[in-house]
Amino acid sequence: MHARVASADAGLDQATLIAGVLEGLEPLPGSEDAVAGVPDGIMQVAGFEAKSGQTLTVTHPEAAALLLVGLGDEVSYEALKTASGNAIRQVKTERAVSLLARSAIDGATRAVAEGSLLGGYEFRLYKTEGDGLVVRAIEIVDGDDAELQIAIAMADATVLARDWVNTPAKDASPEQLASLVEQAVGEASLEIEVWDKARIGQEKLGALLGVAAGSDRDPRVVFLKYRPGDSDRHLALVGKGITFDSGGLSLKTAALMEEMKDDMSGAAAVLAATIGIARLGLPVTVTAIAPLTDNVVGGDATRPGDVLRPIDGPTIEVLNTDAEGRLILADGLGLAKRLAPDLTIDVATLTGAAAVALGKEVAAVFGSDSEVSRRVLDAASLAGEEFWELPLYRGYRKLIDSNIADIKNISGTRYGGAIVAALFLSEYAGDGPWAHLDIAGPAMRTETSGEFVKGASGVAVRTLIEIARSMAEAD
Ligand code: BES
Ligand code: MN
Ligand code: ZN
Repeated sequence: MHARVASADAGLDQATLIAGVLEGLEPLPGSEDAVAGVPDGIMQVAGFEAKSGQTLTVTHPEAAALLLVGLGDEVSYEALKTASGNAIRQVKTERAVSLLARSAIDGATRAVAEGSLLGGYEFRLYKTEGDGLVVRAIEIVDGDDAELQIAIAMADATVLARDWVNTPAKDASPEQLASLVEQAVGEASLEIEVWDKARIGQEKLGALLGVAAGSDRDPRVVFLKYRPGDSDRHLALVGKGITFDSGGLSLKTAALMEEMKDDMSGAAAVLAATIGIARLGLPVTVTAIAPLTDNVVGGDATRPGDVLRPIDGPTIEVLNTDAEGRLILADGLGLAKRLAPDLTIDVATLTGAAAVALGKEVAAVFGSDSEVSRRVLDAASLAGEEFWELPLYRGYRKLIDSNIADIKNISGTRYGGAIVAALFLSEYAGDGPWAHLDIAGPAMRTETSGEFVKGASGVAVRTLIEIARSMAEAD
């Protein structure tokens, strides 16, 4: 879908006009004229109360239709974004003209554009029937063009991550995923480097090799580098790229395995965000590192009790092969550490415990210090993504002392699982500023609402781009 800014007198021929209504049936500022034209009583008869999530399509003298969207009881960035997402799925014409950005809210254009572009997302690659959404273009009346460009970069990168995550594991092996990334990079000013299994062996990424050992599909490491000429800061991003997580020999149950094609959501997020950052031309050097592998069973699969040697840092006794994300991230973080970046952020669908703690809509953030966590939380808030800080509580570190190696990959208690996993990663992250984002809960959405549609969410992409924006501004 395309988004562009339109002037107030944009023609309405064949278009659906989108106007906002607040609870109490007050028009949203900027939508007054459109709402005033709706005959008395129609909203009441239709049961339309302008609650968030409600929409009502009525006739309009000039447009193909007038779509009224409920904003709930106050105008806010979130309300505009959610309403725009809900509205776009009701549009039955190719053109939509939105009045929602005319409200005097900060960032209104961005909210409307992101809500529309993301709420109107569909993954139809495997659908043989039905036409899906008809809407092709959203025109934002009186929008701000600079804001729109940011929103488009954010939405496009998020859509890229959603597409990769929604793709079934069968069609997204490490090798295939690396080619999908290469395709997406295209002509953009980014360098991509892909290590195959032989190179991974030469570089001694023993933890990644250990996870990959059960699969007939070879692992890869994808490096995506964005080097603007004018940058003196370096952001390193590391993403968990498990192309399918069966649990390995510590096999998952059928129910827990159902969604495990999404276990490369962290890799998808860091790679897509890097493409978005390059597209915005931000003056920040970015290196995204994505170790990619299946975690499945085979004759050579790593056995509980085996010890793995990552590129750097403590040797690991693997007591549960289903705690594999932290293993490949040990190697990923080891590679990042060598670059001595100003900030390292890893993103991973790491623990069911994070999902238990924060649910399906909130991601966890851990920071090496409170300044780093603050930076991530501030960026998330600007990006309109829900993150909450969990503590890197050192008292639990002793839970992963190993009998025969330097560290073990599980603690022996199910309590505090997200914290234990973060502590494990901290052993490999080095001494520089580092944040860990556990997106196990929000990586996949279970329902369609606002900017989200059922399936991959693309969570963290916008927050990462916003972090790069904040690094570009800081002095
Ligand atoms: N990929 C899973 C975490 C996950 C669970 C993501 C649910 C999304 C939804 C991860 O590799 C895993 O299996 N973690 C284990 C760790 C445990 C064995 C210590 C978990 O959370 O159960
Ligand atoms: Mn696992
Ligand atoms: Zn996993």
